Amino acid sequence: SWTPDSIIQQAVEQIRARVGGRRVLSAVSGGVDSSVATALVHKAIGNQLTGVFVDHGLLRLNEREQVEAAFRRNLGVNLIVVDAEEQFLSKLSGVTDPEEKRRIIGETFIRTFEAEARKLGEMDFLVQGTIYPDVVESSGPDRSKAQKIKSHHNVGGLPPDLKFELIEPLRYLFKDEVRAVGEALGLPAELVWRQPFPGPGLAVRCLGELTRERLDRLRRADAIFTGELEQAGLLGKKAAGVEKVISQAFVALLPVRSVGVMGDCRTYEEAVALRAVTTDDFMTADWARLPYDLLGRVANRIVNEVKGINRVVYDVTSKPPATIEWE
Ligand code: XMP
Repeated sequence: SWTPDSIIQQAVEQIRARVGGRRVLSAVSGGVDSSVATALVHKAIGNQLTGVFVDHGLLRLNEREQVEAAFRRNLGVNLIVVDAEEQFLSKLSGVTDPEEKRRIIGETFIRTFEAEARKLGEMDFLVQGTIYPDVVESSGPDRSKAQKIKSHHNVGGLPPDLKFELIEPLRYLFKDEVRAVGEALGLPAELVWRQPFPGPGLAVRCLGELTRERLDRLRRADAIFTGELEQAGLLGKKAAGVEKVISQAFVALLPVRSVGVMGDCRTYEEAVALRAVTTDDFMTADWARLPYDLLGRVANRIVNEVKGINRVVYDVTSKPPATIEWE
């Protein structure tokens, strides 16, 4: 039977034997799989590994700092953080169509990553956070259909225009095994127990135009909602093993303004939708029956603490017919 330590030991031996003295590149997204894969390869070959993390300005609150702390400070990984917010937001300026946003982000991401990789010189291997369900799913019948609905962009699935051999150390592991390995490697719980986050980031949750101000509003509202869920034990590590656990929860900023009243004054500000779902496979999903008290508290806090939002609604559609994300 497997234990995290036996998996790690075996992977470390295999990676060392394969890589020898050569150099390895890893695209770190902050997601669970790419993080654990990177930490595992680092354990095997140390400074022969370089991680590249592209900050596209579409990350959640404190996400970049968490990734930097986890890899640089805790694990001592040689991590390059590319500050590309300006570049992404200027390319996305005025764009509101969901597929157009996805296309621009995917393309800009590959360009940015390639430019960074080139600066580093000759690299022989690229780390990919492919896990066992990805291997099975990509040969399954539903894959092509799912991809037609939205053009998914995934940092792990990056096909750079450079020649690499792939290292996929999680290829035979399920998600719970990946998390156990991540914890054993010393990655922080907030990273290991993180909910899935789409490659295009907050762009597909910020409906309408992407401005720094609107993204900031969304980030702050999202942190309030997910923070309250975590505190209630409904999301994150504390929620693991609980029946009907919330699989994904976030805030979407809507492209509408509505009238409200604050004190004696009329307001005319933006609205957000809260989204929380339960699902086994993300192909279908049910909306989470969250406690009313929690919903009320979150709504109050968002309207009081985040300037520019005066209305909060809860999304009660399942998938299908809605999708989990709003774009
Ligand atoms: P939908 O919105 O299609 O989302 O019901 C299903 C799951 O996929 C995630 N998602 C993405 N993940 N790149 C990703 O890596 C993407 O472009 C992308 N779009 C959606 C979504 O968060 C949910 O978990």
